[in-house]
Amino acid sequence: MEKFVINGGIPLRGTIAASGAKNAAVAIVAATILCDEPCIIENCPQISDITFCMKILRSMGAEVKMIDKNKFMIDTRRIISPKVPYDMARVMRASSYFLGTLLGRFHEAHVALPGGCDLGDRPIDQHLKAFRALGAKDSLLNGEVHLNADSLIGNLIYFDRNSVGATINAMLASVKANGYTVIENAAKEPHVVDLANFLNAMGASIMGAGTDTIKIHGVSYLKGVEYSIIPDQIEIGTFMAAAAATRGDVTITNVIPKHLESITAALRKIGVAVEEYDEAVRVYTPNELVKTKIITMPHPGFPTDMQPQISALLTTVNGASVIKDEIFDNRFRYVSELRRMGADISVDQKSAIIQGGEKLKGAPVIAPDLRAGAALIIAGLAAEGVTEIQDIHYIERGYENIVEKLQALGADIKRIHFEEYNGSQIRHDA
Ligand code: EPU
Repeated sequence: MEKFVINGGIPLRGTIAASGAKNAAVAIVAATILCDEPCIIENCPQISDITFCMKILRSMGAEVKMIDKNKFMIDTRRIISPKVPYDMARVMRASSYFLGTLLGRFHEAHVALPGGCDLGDRPIDQHLKAFRALGAKDSLLNGEVHLNADSLIGNLIYFDRNSVGATINAMLASVKANGYTVIENAAKEPHVVDLANFLNAMGASIMGAGTDTIKIHGVSYLKGVEYSIIPDQIEIGTFMAAAAATRGDVTITNVIPKHLESITAALRKIGVAVEEYDEAVRVYTPNELVKTKIITMPHPGFPTDMQPQISALLTTVNGASVIKDEIFDNRFRYVSELRRMGADISVDQKSAIIQGGEKLKGAPVIAPDLRAGAALIIAGLAAEGVTEIQDIHYIERGYENIVEKLQALGADIKRIHFEEYNGSQIRHDA
């Protein structure tokens, strides 16, 4: 097993480049199933969620060639079965995108109910609502969602609640349907727009992605393209929060500053300086930081995927800050770990009050999910002494080379191999 060991208290300084966006990449890689020719995907982050998506494609018969570490050729023409192996689908939330793509291509799909980070209840009722509107019938058999349709016919899809996954699945299932589909109350996240751009580059006819209403004229053929995935706004936001928490000075390149507006606004509100350039941001702390209140919202609001990281930053800020997460029921599982480091945080249902300012002290902690793990890294970097983070496989689902990037910024962080033996640990420095 592996863990991260951080010797905290060093301000991060320097420049790093952002990786491609996880949540765009998982949708785009799944969308290659709809393509009638081979595709080349660039700026694909080397993270375990993507490795896993590629494994799913290969297991179904697709050819996936790594051209370089972030560039892949994917040819899905040899896939003949509309089924994702059960054990592969159940470990990832994004496996639900195979429902939309397989239904779009074969008018049939068999995919296990998706897994992913435990953030509370994560139903797929809105995904099913979209498939039903297009004419599909669904059933749940042995933990697997089965979809089938004689044909898919464009229709009005109205979402009762804003959902990234359901919006993406509605686009995937309708892009090759007969006729015209309108998706109302659509999610507007940058990765939704990136998927629409990818599909349009292949010959789809999608308008309005990034607004509440997406309009799709079905097409019968999607051609191969070379497409580069957008930078990861959450990875960038995580490094911005880490820079501020350590009172450092960090420049991040390969950035689309527009995608960061709500994160930048929140950081500026607490006194962090954020300078925006065409494709970079610089983050530093010229002034004392001040407490704040943040509520997570769907895009363009402050993203739930940045909530744990901003909370870690706010433990370093004097006074009581309030964080409210409106999106998920259970996104405060990092709080008990931060308390081990001395954080004073109380949680009441969807809100946390962070009484910040007291320097955190390093401690052994366990990452309960991906972004919670990122928050523990930020806390460890800002803390006095040594923090050891276990269950780093969660973090590696979404952050490419996080240790190497932090080391490039001067952090004292290492990945350590260890064996668990009768409850005690034997370490091997990596
Ligand atoms: N929801 C329903 N019914 C549905 C779908 C969603 O009630 O059919 C609810 C969810 O339970 C949640 C809310 O709607 O309370 C929003 O969920 P959404 O569908 O937007 O989330 P998701 O598609 O499951 C994606 C990202 C998450 C990110 C959320 C919110 C991917 C693969 N995952 O999840 O990313 O938190 O959108 O922006 O794109 C992460 O990267 O750490 C991560 C968890």
